[in-house]
Amino acid sequence: MDKVTISVIKADIGGYVGHSSSHPDILKRAEDNLIQARDKGLLIDFKVMRCGDDLELIMTHEKGEDSSAIHKLAWDTFIDCTELAKKMKLYGAGQDILSDAFSGNVKGMGPGVAEMEIEERKSEPIIVFMADKTSPGAWNFPIYKIFADPFNTAGLVIDPSLHGGFKFEVLDIYKQETVIFSAPEEIYDLLVFIGAKEHYIIRRVWRKSDGAIASVSSTQKLALIAGKYVGKDDPVLIVRSQSGFPAVGEVLEGFAFPYMVAGWMRGSHHGPFMPVSFRDANPTRFDGPPRVIGAGFQLSNGKLIGPRDMFDDPSFDHTRRMADEIADYMRRHGPFEPHRLPLGDMEYTTLPEVRKKLEGRFKKE
Ligand code: 13P
Ligand code: 13P
Ligand code: MG
Ligand code: MG
Repeated sequence: MDKVTISVIKADIGGYVGHSSSHPDILKRAEDNLIQARDKGLLIDFKVMRCGDDLELIMTHEKGEDSSAIHKLAWDTFIDCTELAKKMKLYGAGQDILSDAFSGNVKGMGPGVAEMEIEERKSEPIIVFMADKTSPGAWNFPIYKIFADPFNTAGLVIDPSLHGGFKFEVLDIYKQETVIFSAPEEIYDLLVFIGAKEHYIIRRVWRKSDGAIASVSSTQKLALIAGKYVGKDDPVLIVRSQSGFPAVGEVLEGFAFPYMVAGWMRGSHHGPFMPVSFRDANPTRFDGPPRVIGAGFQLSNGKLIGPRDMFDDPSFDHTRRMADEIADYMRRHGPFEPHRLPLGDMEYTTLPEVRKKLEGRFKKE
């Protein structure tokens, strides 16, 4: 086999109960769809997963990135699952399905997509991260830690195969422009942008020594696609590791601090990013706090050996406890910033209506 593509395509097609989780029958339905595709030879392998109310299709194949056959398979699967979700009256059935006409690529139609075509190494450990109740900017912090921070990733300092550093592609989601930064020499420039994580999003990372792809994230902003709030953009991220990339433990270490992300409750609040095991990916308290799971795989000729539940480890208990404490602290702010997002980033707001109702009561100073 020459090259293999890993496509992770996800959508919220309905929550069980509310926005907290996914119904097992939906996962089963998605699996039945993908089994057929694998039997026909379209897919090499797949895993159907979920994080909170998001349905995650992890697929391997030889069709390359942006393949219309693969995107159509994902789209048809989401439509099929939406029908079932509607029958069960699951919450927000079809939430991320913004169009009813498929035109060859799911990008811009609601689902989130992260894809990478790679030459499989002698051993190819990859981790697929999936999050709920947040937005793609949530990955900026861990990606920076993993690929640019020597206090996180020892290999940047002591492993000759990483020592050259990495390149970061940053997307300006408002202007739809990209720019590439080279680390370590441009980290201050890079941080000026990626610290504004709801505006500038790291999309791809490459190893500088040979240009090999190291990570890819989904960058859909549903709010922008639809021009109004229709659901968030709970993101996914694919990271390669070991032998010239950060070790698995260095990748996971990037999530050891429960930093603040946007997207809790109604997509309009900040909360701590909590790394959890698959079984604990059911955000319930105030619809959160935001969750992330890590599914580890060893690729073997395109076969997904796994998943291993990477955050199912007591060494992350402390991070989770800290996240709970931060959650309490933030919740006590109620409707005040910085718990509530700045006006421009909220997905729900009554401001224009209330402002209109009070027309005439605002007096010029
Ligand atoms: P092993 O020697 O167990 O392969 O581990 C190497 C490594 O880099 C662990 O971080
Ligand atoms: P989802 O984007 O996960 O559907 O969550 C919506 C929400 O606002 C929950 O409070
Ligand atoms: Mg939902
Ligand atoms: Mg969700």
